[in-house]
Amino acid sequence: MEVRAVFLVGFMASGKSSVGRELARRLGWDFVDLDARIAERERKTVPEIFREAGESGFRLAETSALKHLLTESLLRNSVVALGGGAFIQEPNRELLQSWPTVFLEAPASELWQRSLTDGIERPLRGDPDQFAKLYAERLPFYRQAKVTIATSGKDLASLCSEIERSLQFWNAETAGSRQIASTHPQSGESQ
Ligand code: S3P
Repeated sequence: MEVRAVFLVGFMASGKSSVGRELARRLGWDFVDLDARIAERERKTVPEIFREAGESGFRLAETSALKHLLTESLLRNSVVALGGGAFIQEPNRELLQSWPTVFLEAPASELWQRSLTDGIERPLRGDPDQFAKLYAERLPFYRQAKVTIATSGKDLASLCSEIERSLQFWNAETAGSRQIASTHPQSGESQ
C-alpha cells in the first residue's frame, strides 16, 4: 500500500499549519489540524482545555484524537499538522512509527518572533527564556521524525517541494521493502 498521509511535527509557530495547508492543496489531499480535531471532539478551545483540565488533560485528549484519526479510513490522502507537544509524548510517537513524519526545523529565536505575530493563543509559550528552554528539551524528540527539513529563509513552495520529494522517496523505499518481504515471506510483512 502506498502511504498517502504525512504528519508535520515541530515546535510552536514552526509553520506546521501553513505548510500543511499548502502541501494538502498541492497534493489534492485533505488537511487535518490535530488541535482543531481535539477542540471539535472536546467542544472546547485548546486554551479552555488547558485551563480546565491542565496540560495532562490536554495530552489525554490529544492522544485520543490521534488514535481516532489513525483508525479512520479517511486518513488516506491527508496532511496532518500535529500540535507542538504531540510528538514529544511517547505513546504518540509509537502510534506514528510506521507513518512518514516530517520535522519542520527553525531556531527558537525565529519561532519566538513568529509566535508574537501570528495571533494564536498558546498556553505553553511563556517568556522567551521558557520558550527557548522548552525548545531545547523537545529538540531530541523532534529529531526522531523520519525527515527533518530546515525551514529558515524558505518559502512555502520550496518547503512543499522538499516534503513531496521525501514522500516519493518514502514510497520508493517502502515499495523496496515490500518486495524484499514478498520474496522472503518469513519476514512477516503486516501491511
Ligand atoms: C502545544 C502547542 C500547540 C497546542 C497546545 C500545546 C505545545 O500547538 O497543541 O497549545 O505543547 O507545544 P501549536 O504547535 O500549533 O502552537
